[in-house]
Amino acid sequence: MTGVKIISTGSALPSRVVTNDDLSKIEETSDEWIKKRTGIEKRHFTAEGESANSLAVESAGRALEKSGISKDEIGLVLTATLSGDYSTPSVASFMQSALGLSKDIPYIDINAACSGAAYAVEIARSYLVANQDKKKPYALVTGVEELSKLLDPADRTTNILFGDGAGSVVMTTKEGPYASTLGAESSLAINCPGAKNLRSYIRMDGKEVFRFAVKILPYCIKETVSKAGLSTDDIDYFVCHQANKRIIDHVVRAMKLPKEKFYCNVDHIGNTSGASIFILLDEMEQKGMLSPGDTALLSGFGSGLTWGSVLVTYK
Ligand code: UT7
Repeated sequence: MTGVKIISTGSALPSRVVTNDDLSKIEETSDEWIKKRTGIEKRHFTAEGESANSLAVESAGRALEKSGISKDEIGLVLTATLSGDYSTPSVASFMQSALGLSKDIPYIDINAACSGAAYAVEIARSYLVANQDKKKPYALVTGVEELSKLLDPADRTTNILFGDGAGSVVMTTKEGPYASTLGAESSLAINCPGAKNLRSYIRMDGKEVFRFAVKILPYCIKETVSKAGLSTDDIDYFVCHQANKRIIDHVVRAMKLPKEKFYCNVDHIGNTSGASIFILLDEMEQKGMLSPGDTALLSGFGSGLTWGSVLVTYK
């Protein structure tokens, strides 16, 4: 099977750090409530001069620099986002000039919300396999969100969850075990009306999403590992979308998996939707947790409702 090799990672977080105490000064909430229900202590919001596009470029630039490959070897630029600077042009196409990349490759944004990273990795893999361009065997894949601009100040159940940021990987294909599980079922449990409504805020039925998450994440993990002909013991890290620490704890308990394999950073990053998995992977890389040959299962769930899980190998 042709699988995925992660060559390098990168990330970028905006400069403004907003703690739970900061939120409690502007709405009826508390550090205690947010920490207990979500595990979140702080998140980053964009400040003047920062945006989804600028974060994406910074993050992708870092991954590219660490990869050691030439810019001309990138054959595809994909961005997973629901909150780019413009509905069009895409965030991905913005990277062409900002990073000095080739004009002769596709630049695509995809919207699978918090499953975006897993969707993007599988789409990039499939494209590289189909294209077989030996001169451009790499894809630059980024997840980026600027959710702070979509948060309703009057909706404290939703606005305490989300943050801004970007994460990126440079990836290529590699022969070895591989599987992906991608899917969706139509639902408005998490939605953002966009052009239908000038005041475009994220709306979420938190309880319904919680129930969905604790059901779909174990399904994604079991299904992907089994399709790849592996067992959960063969997976070094389960890199899950950082929505809420309680969801991850629930899955660890229900599946009886070692909690050390589920590194989490939702406490200091919050929920960054399509960016969270790549930001987490980059943090693990920076902490020296990843060794060449390690396998990681990237799994997300979110608006759609969508779900996605892909198996990757680190270097
Ligand atoms: O990446 C997208 C995926 N999204 C998710 O994974 C979200 C999944 N859902 C959740 O994480 C949880 O549903 C939330 C953290 C969003 C909410 O937790 P909950 O336990 O479902 O809270 P709730 O909405 O049922 O509210 C419980 C109580 C209510 O008060 P009463 O009616 O019991 O008196 C709320 O009014 O907590 C109150 N409440 C708050 N209190 C302080 C709601 N939000 C807040 C708040 N601070 N921010």
